[in-house]
Amino acid sequence: MQNKVLESKKRKVEENKLVKVAVAQGDGIGPEIMQATLNIMQAADAGIEPEFIELGEQVYLAGNSAGIQERAWEVINRNKVIFKAPITTPQGKGFKSLNVTLRKSLGLFSNVRPVNSLHPYVHTHFPKMNVVIIRENEEDLYAGIEHQQTEDVVQCLKLITRPGCERIVRYAFEYAKAYGRRKVTCMVKDNIMKLTDGLFHKVFLEIAQEYPTIQNNSQIIDIGSAKLAAHPEDYDVIVTSNLYGDIISDIAAEIAGSVGMAGSANIGTNVAMFEAIHGSAPDIAGKNIANPSGLINAAVMMLSHLGKLETADKIKNAWLTTIEEGYHTADIYQKDISTQKVSTTQFAEEVIKRLGKTPSFFPKSTLYKGSGSITIPEYKRKQSKKELVGVDVFIDWAGTDPQIIGNDLLEVRVYNLKLKMITNRGVKVFPAGRKETYCTDHWRCRFVSEKAVINQPQPTYKPINYEQVVALLSQLNNDGFDVIKTENLYEFDGKRGFSLGQGE
Ligand code: NAI
Ligand code: MG
Repeated sequence: MQNKVLESKKRKVEENKLVKVAVAQGDGIGPEIMQATLNIMQAADAGIEPEFIELGEQVYLAGNSAGIQERAWEVINRNKVIFKAPITTPQGKGFKSLNVTLRKSLGLFSNVRPVNSLHPYVHTHFPKMNVVIIRENEEDLYAGIEHQQTEDVVQCLKLITRPGCERIVRYAFEYAKAYGRRKVTCMVKDNIMKLTDGLFHKVFLEIAQEYPTIQNNSQIIDIGSAKLAAHPEDYDVIVTSNLYGDIISDIAAEIAGSVGMAGSANIGTNVAMFEAIHGSAPDIAGKNIANPSGLINAAVMMLSHLGKLETADKIKNAWLTTIEEGYHTADIYQKDISTQKVSTTQFAEEVIKRLGKTPSFFPKSTLYKGSGSITIPEYKRKQSKKELVGVDVFIDWAGTDPQIIGNDLLEVRVYNLKLKMITNRGVKVFPAGRKETYCTDHWRCRFVSEKAVINQPQPTYKPINYEQVVALLSQLNNDGFDVIKTENLYEFDGKRGFSLGQGE
């Protein structure tokens, strides 16, 4: 009993503590939905003191290509929590996405997007949908490392790392454990990308072993997203990499009824950022008709992150009650079901009126019961034996007949390196390609040791040293080849760390 009293006193202290939060009002509908949400938090005595920061369109247009002022970083560093309305990234002017910049520079590795349907009050074909998408937030194609290499060819590097995979996969299982969820589904495309998506999947299978009470399964992303769109009620927690997660979380939010409803958390080790999942909706900005629910749900996630669980419940329950009593903004208004079509400000007022009430139709929010805490251990790098066994030299050549470049390169013999094969867009074209294969000006020429035994299916490579590579490059340059880049071929503990060419 004594303990219970102490605990509840401690919780009261947390609940009532005044917490400063960096608040960005955003662009388009941003300021309208932010004001509505701040009003609700204030009426709920949430103990949140906003410290406003400038970021977004105006900052970009004032000539700051990052879209965020220096002072904003200082406020973020001090407060550690950001509450952010959507912003507009000016199109086609070469500005970097501020969202990506914030996520990466603050180490916000996990993007958590719960989406559930509010049938019948919000129209959806999927009354039982209740999914949480946990998306890796820093890596993958969103590393944004792109190059034009030849007249024909541009590339974007897809970077997947073991620490990145371990962190996000563990976060997903820990989240499932903390919030009483039954199953975690991994979505990747490792039938094609065996090394990158293969690593994500491998780490998933390893870590899943540590959570025997939580079911796990894996799906290839294309069929997985199709099934998610058709049977979302079959999913519980989904963990996936950055690009796939970006796409499927929009699909999930859309089929649940409105992009205007879902909030998201971007979680890092030291900083966390909370926002709606939708954008700045310039088409309806300034009209006081936007649905503030996405940002309200983000606020609930933020309050829960700050340990203000009772306040989070209070707001969530008032919001659920408002929805089930039929006070709906235009995006979710239904003639037969809604009581009244309300504006952004009216919606917030209706929520405020219901603070303290609990829904009668929807299950009520019970965050106050607490959840397990989520801890992610430090990454420990394992040391394996790394051996150089060859090099892929990428050459810009305007010809079209692989026999010509192939025979020329066969002549190049430097320090016992020899040409093994040439691919064009990943397909083997030399030796023995097919004449139907279309060739661009981007030729990947694989050189390995003369002593390598390259019979399939198990080629045996031999170690080479980097001086051989340098000598080869120098020779190629002297012979007039336009080398655009190289990739070293390594084995790690005797296992091939590079893909074979298609048809190799
Ligand atoms: P959007 O999400 O802003 O709008 C898509 C559609 O949904 C529009 O018809 C809009 O009216 C509607 N909509 C969105 N939120 C709504 C709400 N709360 N209530 C009622 N209707 C709502 O996506 P769009 O048009 O592709 O992007 C607009 C701008 O937002 C772009 O500059 C984009 O870069 C930016 N954006 C920013 C994000 C962020 O700051 N986190 C995320 C996504 C986009
Ligand atoms: Mg997106």
